[in-house]
Amino acid sequence: METPLAGNTVLVTGGAGFIGSHLVDALAPDNEVRVLDNFSNGTREHVHEEATVIDGDLRNPMDIQRAARDVDVIFHQGAVVSVSESVDAPRATNEINLEATLDMFEQARLEDARVVVASSAAVYGHPVEVPITESARLEPTSPYGVQKLALDHYARLYNDLYGLETVALRYFNVYGPRQQGPYSGVISTFLEQARADEPITIEGDGEQTRDFVHVDDVVRANLQAATTDAVGTAYNVGTGTRTSIGELATLIREVTDSSSRIVHRDPRTGDIRHSVADISRAGDRLGFEPLIDLETGLRGLVSSSKRTTAAAGADDDAAGQGGDTPEPVGTGE
Ligand code: UD1
Repeated sequence: METPLAGNTVLVTGGAGFIGSHLVDALAPDNEVRVLDNFSNGTREHVHEEATVIDGDLRNPMDIQRAARDVDVIFHQGAVVSVSESVDAPRATNEINLEATLDMFEQARLEDARVVVASSAAVYGHPVEVPITESARLEPTSPYGVQKLALDHYARLYNDLYGLETVALRYFNVYGPRQQGPYSGVISTFLEQARADEPITIEGDGEQTRDFVHVDDVVRANLQAATTDAVGTAYNVGTGTRTSIGELATLIREVTDSSSRIVHRDPRTGDIRHSVADISRAGDRLGFEPLIDLETGLRGLVSSSKRTTAAAGADDDAAGQGGDTPEPVGTGE
């Protein structure tokens, strides 16, 4: 991947996680990369070998201080990404998702570093209209969304009040290799079901829509945010294309060559009906353009997990055990 950022010292928090580890892969060839992760959800094997790993906790200001020393750019991806966990524990998740972000901003001021921070489409809650622009109503429906909204506002404020260079990226439904953990998105769930020839379970009528954006496009947006002059604001990161969950189920059956049945169960309580990004601001000011359409992304995902499976099988064969270990699935921001 073409990297506009080179010769810098950068910190990626959550750099062992889903999005963070892909970002590290893109940055490592041309930059000095540090990763701060507590491996609660991340995986050590996913961290690029040239990155320096700091096994630390976002709740510990000393770890933040150590990790951010002399950096030029901080990509703050570390967070509790589970919406349901935030509903169960608003206070505890706020500590990680919001308070630690404030510590990060404070440290960035001392270091005079730019901060690119992971926000979320969750800041919008139930949209009044689609596609959603950045100036749409902000009414989150979960503590997670409130935490992301607060950090998104703080990013702008730190730029306005203190001149800190900040950019907030509002991720829509991100998918790609290495998504893992107990909180797994619909794509990884459907892929697992299709591979196991189990029924693909649509919640509700399947007419609800989402904007699925490939992690490589999300990485591109981060790299552009790291070098743009248009700081102090938030950008939607999606594709601008809406896909219904029913269409997704059919597409997944196709790309996996599966004969799984598609079944419906009760809709999810409080589910967002339609969500799709208006990405014109990111296009105009960052030069952001998503390059991977859903079908191409899904086909890539299927073949990359086949390669992982084959490699795991080969390793196990070498150990005399055989085996078939699929790529773990789940989510992360
Ligand atoms: C996503 C984000 C979340 C963010 C929110 C903001 C992911 C994984 N989550 O949630 O962090 O806060 O956007 O709007 O990207 N579904 C099924 N069958 C399944 C699983 C899901 O039909 O087995 C349906 C759900 O009911 C939902 C849709 O698929 O309508 C997407 O679900 P999910 O992948 O969990 O993401 P969001 O709810 O959009």
